[in-house]
Amino acid sequence: MKIDLTGKTALVTGSSQGIGLAIATALATSGADVVLSGRSRDSLDDAASAVSEAAGVRKPRTVAADLGTKQGIADLLGEVAGIDILVNNLGIYESKDAMDITDDDWQDYLDVNLLSAVRLTRALLPAMMQQKWGRVLYLASDAAIAVPHDMLHYGVSKTALVAAARGYAKVAAGSGVTVNSVIAGPTRTDGAVRFIRSKFGPVMPWEEAEGKFMSTERSASLIKRLIDPAEIANMVVYLSSPQASATTGGALRVDGGYVDSIFP
Ligand SMILES: NC(=O)c1ccc[n+]([C@@H]2O[C@H](COP(=O)([O-])OP(=O)(O)OC[C@H]3O[C@@H](n4cnc5c(N)ncnc54)[C@H](OP(=O)(O)O)[C@@H]3O)[C@@H](O)[C@H]2O)c1
Repeated sequence: MKIDLTGKTALVTGSSQGIGLAIATALATSGADVVLSGRSRDSLDDAASAVSEAAGVRKPRTVAADLGTKQGIADLLGEVAGIDILVNNLGIYESKDAMDITDDDWQDYLDVNLLSAVRLTRALLPAMMQQKWGRVLYLASDAAIAVPHDMLHYGVSKTALVAAARGYAKVAAGSGVTVNSVIAGPTRTDGAVRFIRSKFGPVMPWEEAEGKFMSTERSASLIKRLIDPAEIANMVVYLSSPQASATTGGALRVDGGYVDSIFP
């Protein structure tokens, strides 16, 4: 299968590092013009250089804005136009005792993980439907299904994203636009390294910490290792492609077999 996204413009949120950066790189490698988004201008600039080098393209556009706020979303939307592929990758996560999660924490997780995606979808989906082609994706998580006891706010926000993908797919029915979520499993990103270190402390050698995390907290993983961000990006590129035109309203797993289910 040869995937060619030439002529398509993709917006990837949370793309200055980790899975978002891998997705932006893979989309650019397949020919798409990509727009990178995050808060730190310096990180975005570094990420744009990395995409340019890896994909052999000119430096992609970047927009610095806090997408957990209405103003940040408006600022981003003010700078982009003609988006054909929207990848709602942005997500924050932490380990926190369920009983210590405050109202402010809940609001923060809903604003950043759910409402950023909802607001961008509401703004960009109508034009995609009008042009009779588009792709909307949501980066969900195994935590949407196997909700960890210490990541309740995160898990709930990701379950909501899976539901939102299904609902927006119905909104886009028959329009040529597909809407899907990707159930990512534990993946080796800066954010995940910080998360794992927060559990086992900064002193433990990284290989030992990763091994301990996988064997004690993600022992149901069938690949028995963290996922590489590029492995998530491969699924996103496929779902963004013309070839994936009959896949919509779905939740596709790239979880290393972690979720113990025969259904997707
Ligand atoms: N890593 C995993 O194991 C894993 C597993 C399952 C699902 N996922 C999901 O995959 C997605 C990416 O995860 P990741 O591990 O790659 O994340 P990450 O390494 O923590 O990167 C987060 C990205 O989001 C940006 N960001 C954070 N807060 C923001 C805000 N308020 N407004 C705009 N940008 C913001 C960050 O840049 P700035 O800090 O500069 O803003 C950065 O580019 C998330 O949705 C996550 O839930 C991850």
